[in-house]
Amino acid sequence: MATVKIIYGSTTGMTEAAAQSLAALFGAEAIPIASATPEDLDADLLILGSSTWGYGEPQDDWAASGLALLDAADLSGRKVAVFGTGDSVGFADTFAAALGILADKAVERGATLVGQVPTDGYGATETTAVRDGRFVGLALDDTNEAERTPERIAAWAERLKATL
Ligand SMILES: Cc1cc2nc3c(=O)[nH]c(=O)nc-3n(C[C@H](O)[C@H](O)[C@H](O)COP(=O)(O)O)c2cc1C
Repeated sequence: MATVKIIYGSTTGMTEAAAQSLAALFGAEAIPIASATPEDLDADLLILGSSTWGYGEPQDDWAASGLALLDAADLSGRKVAVFGTGDSVGFADTFAAALGILADKAVERGATLVGQVPTDGYGATETTAVRDGRFVGLALDDTNEAERTPERIAAWAERLKATL
């Protein structure tokens, strides 16, 4: 059976809540990046989550140690999907930009990126998290449109399951 792991960084708990929802849907573990080990990256589908801080920066734990953990990993043959929360009104230009950073890193380490999301229904699409008209992963905005989060997560999980 394909293994799925969810690894996330979250400062105020919003991305953590999304990670827990995904964990429940996949019957998988949600591991904070602050305590992740190289073995935790060993999965057929690795789902990486980060909120966006500063102005388009990854969440602190990713910046402190998580990106270095990815740098040291060989992700070839693995599928990686990225998700995270942001604020598409207050930070439209850098909405969920951390997704782009995680996606680039995963591809650089040999992974195949899956789980891109059409921009339909999103207000902020002029962000580096959008490539070729799609978000590189699941962008969530619990600040302004929390009511959409459950359905966005459920639809994304279904699509990811189809890649396994
Ligand atoms: C100082 C500050 C900077 C932020 N910068 C961004 C940003 O550049 N892009 C974005 O999408 N959201 C930004 N946000 C919003 C957070 O990403 C959002 O609140 C997120 O849900 C936090 O998730 P977490 O609790 O998982 O860390 C910022 C929030 C604060 C307070």
